[in-house]
Amino acid sequence: MDEKQDTGANVEELRRLIDHHNYRYYALDQPEISDSEYDRLFAELVRLENENPELITPDSPTQRVGFAPIEKFLPFPHEMPLLSLENATTEKDVIEFEARIRRHLGYEGPIEYVAEPKMDGLAVEMVYENGVFSGAGTRGDGFTGEDVTVNVRTIRSVPLRLRAERRNPPLPARIAIRCEVFIEKKDFEALNETRARASEPLFANPRNAAAGSLRQLDPSVTATRPLRAFFYGVGVLEGRQFETQWETLNALKLWGLPVNPRSTICSSIGEAIDFYNQLAEEREKLPYEIDGMVIKVNRLDWQSELGEKSRSPRWAIAFKFNPDEAQTHVLDIRVQVGRTGILTPVAFLNPVLVGGVTVKRATLHNMDEIERKGICIGDAVMVHRAGDVIPEVSEVLKSRRTGDERPFRMPSACPSCGGEVVRLPDEAFHRCLNLNCPAQVKASIVHFASRDAMNIEGLGHKIVSRFIDENIISSVPDLYTLRKEDLEHLPGFGEKSASNLLDSIEGSKETTLSRFLHALGVSHVGSHLAELLASHFKSLDALRSASVAQLQEIAGIGEKVAYAVNSYFANPANSQLIDDLLSFGFRLKIPQPSGPVDGSFWMDKTVVFTGALSSLPRPEAARVVALRGARVTDSVSKNTDIVIAGKDPGAKLAKAEKLGVRIMNEEEFARMLDE
Ligand code: IVH
Repeated sequence: MDEKQDTGANVEELRRLIDHHNYRYYALDQPEISDSEYDRLFAELVRLENENPELITPDSPTQRVGFAPIEKFLPFPHEMPLLSLENATTEKDVIEFEARIRRHLGYEGPIEYVAEPKMDGLAVEMVYENGVFSGAGTRGDGFTGEDVTVNVRTIRSVPLRLRAERRNPPLPARIAIRCEVFIEKKDFEALNETRARASEPLFANPRNAAAGSLRQLDPSVTATRPLRAFFYGVGVLEGRQFETQWETLNALKLWGLPVNPRSTICSSIGEAIDFYNQLAEEREKLPYEIDGMVIKVNRLDWQSELGEKSRSPRWAIAFKFNPDEAQTHVLDIRVQVGRTGILTPVAFLNPVLVGGVTVKRATLHNMDEIERKGICIGDAVMVHRAGDVIPEVSEVLKSRRTGDERPFRMPSACPSCGGEVVRLPDEAFHRCLNLNCPAQVKASIVHFASRDAMNIEGLGHKIVSRFIDENIISSVPDLYTLRKEDLEHLPGFGEKSASNLLDSIEGSKETTLSRFLHALGVSHVGSHLAELLASHFKSLDALRSASVAQLQEIAGIGEKVAYAVNSYFANPANSQLIDDLLSFGFRLKIPQPSGPVDGSFWMDKTVVFTGALSSLPRPEAARVVALRGARVTDSVSKNTDIVIAGKDPGAKLAKAEKLGVRIMNEEEFARMLDE
């Protein structure tokens, strides 16, 4: 009995911890622990709940997934309708908005407003009963939406229970909270990238991606989508009252619901307009898309007094930004050859201003995508862009066709080298198979030299193109054999620019392991994964010899990436390339450990010794690794992280090999102790 009670308390404590870290991560954007530490807590909770299923509760953080697909969405009636907002496009509109408010209230004194970024996602209402999440519905026609409860459960930023801390406003018996569900720009790009590779239809913009992801009949699909939510208002509220919008937002935040941190209280309409101008400047840099700013009268008693017109409240207005979509024409479609030989069709557009930037091109991704959207040369189209996201054709205006439009066909010969173009089975892409194709070589050198990789200043596309076309270099390693004499005679290349370039090439040898990895251009390995790999393996040699299983042990590395990395290093041509590069004397710095959690390579590793070590006795070796945070055990299992093999190793070595456990010889062991 006692033991059961202990387990119950442990489970509760783990849930509290996990909820707390979710709150730090999603609501406050201030995580306190690493992702792997979080994963460990989560795994422990899953284990305890599996062993004690009677302890599972619906608000446990483990209960987000695992709901069966549904056949259709049930209606979700809103007890209070979800209204829409009147739009303002100019300052004059906003000033008139305040004048109407003043007339209605018969009031001349100061009015406070709350200004909130207008998230470009979809409106969802979530209901909590006694603090526990009980249901969610889309906006629909404002009166009845669709019941997306099981899907919303999978969104990690939506708490399954509200935080009832002592200092918090008491939890209402029942509350319907309105929020915007959205996808961040970078997550949207990654999602579309994955879909393009899998020949799946792409989403035109983050809003469509969010809506499509939430409206899935199978919640396990929604669970894989990077949905987030920001909460901004309250519908039905039983058991307590708020006085202002600002107080409402603060209560939501304290209850653990993410509230947009850019929301601001303004003491006058002028301040709100200033904030709009500031927000318009920041818009590009924000991680998510916004299409304007919502201005709300702060006092709730005034809100009730103002009431609403037919479909929108008198106390709020949406002050919109320039649209991030515009209409133009596709002048031509041409293909570009990337560093992996993939042919990407690109639409050349009649230049058009979108969100303040002139757009001349938009990526069309691949042939499937062109067919799916039905894009022809000459079509009138809508183009969408946001921040750094590559502009995309979001829609073809088929009703505007004249009959002069021409379909696009993928060329059968590479436009760069004339080589054969193929589409491999299971691939969405057409590829040029010629590894020496100049376009591929150029693109891989440009990538190698780029800012996040080797950061070789002055080596952009133009110069690289010239070097290749004029036969000055033909591969990445050739960069490191360049001499002043090779460059000086080039028209437009003075002595100064030649020596600057050579200096930055020479300087690039002093770099970090993660930059070097990123520069190699292993497929799927961008700068983030390169850092992850570098900080885990801590040496190029260790990474080069890592098995698929060892790679997959790293939190954040899945099967696909593990295979890509493993097969990259297994390819003799790549090995040769790396050896050639290393022969020029690179110094690859290893990232410093980041904190006490995974401060040491040995921290939390399960280690087994086998065979005799020549440099120190086994007990001494065990003590040394234990001091660095490792657990030393006697037998090899799938939970073993490292087997250290000395002379005449026993059966443990064979078992480790069979299980794919990382094996260290004495030399490697000594090196890792020094790390
Ligand atoms: S308040 C009664 N606040 O804009 C007012 N709406 O046209 C209800 N939206 O459907 C809306 N961010 O999807 C409000 N901070 C915000 C918002 C916001 C985005 C969306 C919402 C709504 C639409 C109104």
